[in-house]
Amino acid sequence: MQRVFSGVKPSGIITLGNYLGAMRNFVEMQADYECYYSVVDLHALTVPQDPQALRQQALTLAALYLAIGIDPQQATLFVQSHVPAHAELGWLLQCSSYMGELSRMTQFKDKAAEQESVTAGLFTYPTLMAADILLYQADVVPVGEDQKQHLELTRDIAIRFNNRFGETFTVPEPVIPKVGARIMSLTDPTKKMSKSDNPASYISLLDEPNVIKKKINRAVTDSESVVRYDPDNKPGVSNLLVIHALCAGETVTSLEDRYSGQGYGVLKRDTIDAIVAVLEPIQARYRELMAGDGEQVLAILRQGAERADAVAQATLRRVQAAMGLILP
Ligand code: AMP
Ligand code: TRP
Repeated sequence: MQRVFSGVKPSGIITLGNYLGAMRNFVEMQADYECYYSVVDLHALTVPQDPQALRQQALTLAALYLAIGIDPQQATLFVQSHVPAHAELGWLLQCSSYMGELSRMTQFKDKAAEQESVTAGLFTYPTLMAADILLYQADVVPVGEDQKQHLELTRDIAIRFNNRFGETFTVPEPVIPKVGARIMSLTDPTKKMSKSDNPASYISLLDEPNVIKKKINRAVTDSESVVRYDPDNKPGVSNLLVIHALCAGETVTSLEDRYSGQGYGVLKRDTIDAIVAVLEPIQARYRELMAGDGEQVLAILRQGAERADAVAQATLRRVQAAMGLILP
């Protein structure tokens, strides 16, 4: 069976963009692949985090993975920092990658521009991401469009390592959805929807129906009043069509037909209903999982870490031996 690895950072809110662009596909893939899904808390540390908040967000994200339908019997769900091999291979790969290639990462450039002071970790972030993927010898990695460049770097690192030290790593392929790979901000539909932006710009998976209604009703559209999919000229309306289509399990074209000749009010009303219909059951499962102090979720994470650790250790040993380290 082919392997899948993917991760989400526990840095605050989990958005509808995370779900439609990536996490939804995690659920779909679990029946056909051997899947490893992680709460990548070490990645969150690349920018300042409040320790108590980080802990809570990691637990929330783990519960959300389960609430959207990740089945711990089928897939391995774990916290990155519980498996020490991630940090260890991360170092070995830092020593196998170059300042030049890391300097070209657009996510680094964008994030560094937002920070007052930039950690070394923010710069080497993609090597840790490469370690995550390569430790599990993943064949495929489901991600949103913004991670494409990191995946290309991961492939370069793997190919270079294999050439220099002998076949060690599977070279992974990204899986980026045709529709939904870049869900846009509701307040500025020329930018991607992001958890680090202001709350009006995103839908959180945990937003209540009335909050979803308010945010979609205020979403930026245009003055044309024609429902048409045209991301360049009508980014706001096109974004609503994509969100609506994915939530309702329909195609953008069929929605274009249905809403042609109707105003944006009707499109927005039905988009709200489609989002609420997807999120309500997720939120109900989330509340069940978090009842008590999340002990149920923690138990699943402990089991997941044990399974992940066995696979990760085996790869790490091979890498250490290949690079000339004396094995303990
Ligand atoms: P992050 O929250 O940065 O850890 O992202 C987790 C996953 O969600 C990654 O695969 C991202 O590519 C994906 N993702 C984040 N934001 C969006 C968005 N606005 N549209 C589509 N995918 C997204
Ligand atoms: N860098 C990814 C993001 O910001 C999160 C991530 C970390 C990841 N490690 C990964 C995604 C490994 C896929 C595979 O979204």
